[in-house]
Amino acid sequence: MKKILLAAAALILLAGCTQKSEMDKYIDTLMGKMTLEQKIGQLNLHSAGGFISALKVTEEDANVKLLREGGLGGVYGGSNVEYHRQLQAIALESGAGIPLIFGLDVIHGHETVFPIPLALSTSWDPALVERATRVAAKEASATGVNWVFSPMVDIARDPRWGRIAEGAGEDPYLGGEMAKAYVHGYQGYDDNFDKDEVLACVKHYALYGAAEAGRDYNTVNLSRQEILNGYMRPYQQAAFAGAGSYMSSFNEFEGIPATMNTYLMDDLLRKAWGFKGFIVSDATAVMEEIAHGIGDLQEVSARSLKAGLDMDMNSDGFVGTLKKSLDEGKVSVKDIDRACRRILEAKYKLGLFEDPYRYLDPERADKEVYTAENKAIAREVARDCQVLLKNDGVLPLRKDARIAVVGPLADNHSAMAGCWAMSKHTSETVTILEGIRDAAQKVTYAKGSNLFLDKAMEETVLYGLMRTFRPDMPIPPVHTQSNAILIAEAVAKARQADVVVACVGETENMNGEGASRSDISIPDAQVELLKALKATGKPIVLVLTTGRPLTLNWEDANMDAILCTWSEGSEAGHAIADVLFGDANPSGKLTTTFPVSVGQLPLYYNHKNTGRPHPDYAPYRKFTSCYMDVINGPLYPFGYGLSYTTFDYSDVTLSANEMTAGGKVTASVTVTNTGSRDGKETVQLYIHDVYSTSTRPVKELRGFQKIELKAGESRKVDFELTAEDLKYYDHELQYVCEPGDYEIMIGPNSRDTKEPVILTVK
Ligand code: NOJ
Repeated sequence: MKKILLAAAALILLAGCTQKSEMDKYIDTLMGKMTLEQKIGQLNLHSAGGFISALKVTEEDANVKLLREGGLGGVYGGSNVEYHRQLQAIALESGAGIPLIFGLDVIHGHETVFPIPLALSTSWDPALVERATRVAAKEASATGVNWVFSPMVDIARDPRWGRIAEGAGEDPYLGGEMAKAYVHGYQGYDDNFDKDEVLACVKHYALYGAAEAGRDYNTVNLSRQEILNGYMRPYQQAAFAGAGSYMSSFNEFEGIPATMNTYLMDDLLRKAWGFKGFIVSDATAVMEEIAHGIGDLQEVSARSLKAGLDMDMNSDGFVGTLKKSLDEGKVSVKDIDRACRRILEAKYKLGLFEDPYRYLDPERADKEVYTAENKAIAREVARDCQVLLKNDGVLPLRKDARIAVVGPLADNHSAMAGCWAMSKHTSETVTILEGIRDAAQKVTYAKGSNLFLDKAMEETVLYGLMRTFRPDMPIPPVHTQSNAILIAEAVAKARQADVVVACVGETENMNGEGASRSDISIPDAQVELLKALKATGKPIVLVLTTGRPLTLNWEDANMDAILCTWSEGSEAGHAIADVLFGDANPSGKLTTTFPVSVGQLPLYYNHKNTGRPHPDYAPYRKFTSCYMDVINGPLYPFGYGLSYTTFDYSDVTLSANEMTAGGKVTASVTVTNTGSRDGKETVQLYIHDVYSTSTRPVKELRGFQKIELKAGESRKVDFELTAEDLKYYDHELQYVCEPGDYEIMIGPNSRDTKEPVILTVK
């Protein structure tokens, strides 16, 4: 049997090699015929001119002119089969006749919108994320897209940064598991792309989520040891999963912009992790290196190429200056050939040389996109991406109750769609009001408040994007009704109801790119509404729409229940109603710490101890590491989330108290569903290295399992531990498991873990 397996493995290896050499031969021949200009053209990526769906190719179009000269390797931003077909035809009859690659920001679903990535991560269910991503890949590929700018795997510890919405939160281990799930969902499990699989693009490489003070695009200032331990794992795991491309980030690292950072792109990604695909810059990131203070366009383009960047998005730095740099000896033919080859390899693997129209089937979109089946999956997924933060017993609601649904986010389609939804169907997303109305009969509604008390702020939030691109365009009036009138109407409805569902939080344009906030509370106009509702004495369920953790102290103290529903996508309202009425039991758990105060930021569970540690919830004490005016601990910790049932954890046991470097130990806990409903629970395992040669966090997630337990059911949950699970990057940047004692902790969240048990590594 063993022999047969070995022979089979050898055959597979051989087949892989043959395939590789066929690809090499094909590309060698192709590149042998290409001019220098045509090679440089492959390194150029342009936007299709906004995210327009009904584009028509004209000869005056700058893209078309460039394409005819062989100056374009890809186009992004469109998802229109007809437009892409026209462009592809031009590409094939121009220059070396190389097909274009078509990219798009498919971040949380495509036409069928899925929960935003931060919400998806709160499922703690990589298989579910892979399923969502598979649907996105099918839909994207059916609309002319073969390359998606996802997953976004940036670890973020500061919720002031609006793009925290686009990632999987603050933990590198969980982030790594999610990164793999996305890559497999988009690309499948091998290098041969089926025609409903698309090339993933891991972003933003690297460390974009560590922007100082949460201000978008800001400087990153971290040590190599810190990034390797705290930030890089998701990028690394995506490479190990076979991700075909990466996107460089806007920020700098160690004084060098990421887009020209040899350590990040070459030393780590390619050499240490074995990444073989291509790296594209973020939009205009090459050009932005001028503002970083590095040099003119020619200088920054040459340095970016040399450092390992292969494709330039929207700067025209490569296409405009590389030839000159070659003449001046700043780059070599080898540098250009290397980048060109990587892009051609991706096109080869996508099957574009065999059939350039492979992803441009005019029939598929009608049959495969935004289907009832895909929407049903979106609803199922969204049910598992809601975090119950508080429940005094008011939830689940009765369907025959009189329910007042109030708040500016109750009937808001775009807020349900979320920050990266570019679907043509965003106006059809099911709102919370619609979802509740579909489930219950006695429902009343009032908008209840504006978003902000300040008119200018309301305008900025609602029309800031439009103003950026069309400063002269008049914007519709805001605050057409005063907050007082809106509140009065909502209060009147609340008084007639048994229960109030207050839908407040952030609209989709309050998070995502270019949406940093210094105050992360629920906006003032909406808090006024909540306070007026509270005064009615009616029970209030706060349904929170948000793309980031918010400060919710008053809400936690005064609301009867808080359900964090992020932006849940096409089927948001239905999935939220499923949870509100108990047809689904909430099982989401936070992947980001919710602070008590913005002044605590950055606040994350896997912090280190100081020499003068201070307990998270203890009062102020001079000469210890704490604040005078706020506790150290979070309002809701990483990993936290309630259910309509309760789970009990037994003490943790180890199969052995000692482990050799090559050994294995099993850590176990028995979890019992002690409530009266079936439910899902994510069991989390954390480690702490008691003494290490350089400092390590107080807790580090190293395993989790999402289990389903019937009411009353118990299950033993085992985690197998090896030295691999205990490793970290030491001061010399070696990835090591140091001998000594490790605390092993298991529990329902990062705060409430059971008493640690000690595992000694010999
Ligand atoms: C800029 C964003 O940072 C990135 O996430 C996105 O993929 C590109 N623009 C292309 O739209």
